[in-house]
Amino acid sequence: MSAAARSLTRAQETRTAEQTRNVEPLSLRRVCGLFTTGVTVITTGPDGDADGTTVNSFTSVSLEPPLVLFCLHRNSRLHTLLEQSGGFTVNFLSGRQQSLARHFAGRRATAFEGIPHHFTEDGLPVLSEALAYLTCTTVDIHTAGDHEIVIGEVVDLGVPEHGLEPLVFFDGSLGPLQSGTDRFHHTEQAS
Ligand SMILES: Cc1cc2nc3c(=O)[nH]c(=O)nc-3n(C[C@H](O)[C@H](O)[C@H](O)COP(=O)(O)O)c2cc1C
Repeated sequence: MSAAARSLTRAQETRTAEQTRNVEPLSLRRVCGLFTTGVTVITTGPDGDADGTTVNSFTSVSLEPPLVLFCLHRNSRLHTLLEQSGGFTVNFLSGRQQSLARHFAGRRATAFEGIPHHFTEDGLPVLSEALAYLTCTTVDIHTAGDHEIVIGEVVDLGVPEHGLEPLVFFDGSLGPLQSGTDRFHHTEQAS
């Protein structure tokens, strides 16, 4: 059992509907941390002033039209740049980009220094060694508690390096997904 799971008693995890009105933020963070996700860096802003932040709240929303979303803390310094540029790139990190995830989650005076990147025709920054990327035009922003849900329409996409394993986030830890070639069966998505 993981450290986070151990630290939560069974009683805490099985609160009744009434009790959940008092859910502690730390408990919520710990339990949600047991949901395994990939890791992305959202990049935005013009050359010379571009920045990014590490995000695991990315999800695809719609195929037609092609929509995706991520949730961004309302105090994030990325908001101003997002507004100015009108769009963003979702960079999916590979298993060997752990340090990049930490870099973009921390204080980063020189955001892109020493990090291979390029700009799309629309002027959006892309991490050149990402596992895959989507460039998006922002179409909607909804306030939800202490976060904003940013919805983007995908205008371009790419897979710079094929065959890389993804970086995964589980129980507060980052690491590459250890996948044997036969471990996963590729299936068509149901919906
Ligand atoms: C694995 C991981 C996932 C994260 N996911 C999110 C997220 O979905 N939304 C968010 O606002 N911050 C997320 N953060 C925190 C941000 O990367 C960043 O540290 C925080 O928002 C403060 O910096 P900012 O001003 O650049 O946003 C995540 C951090 C890590 C390490």
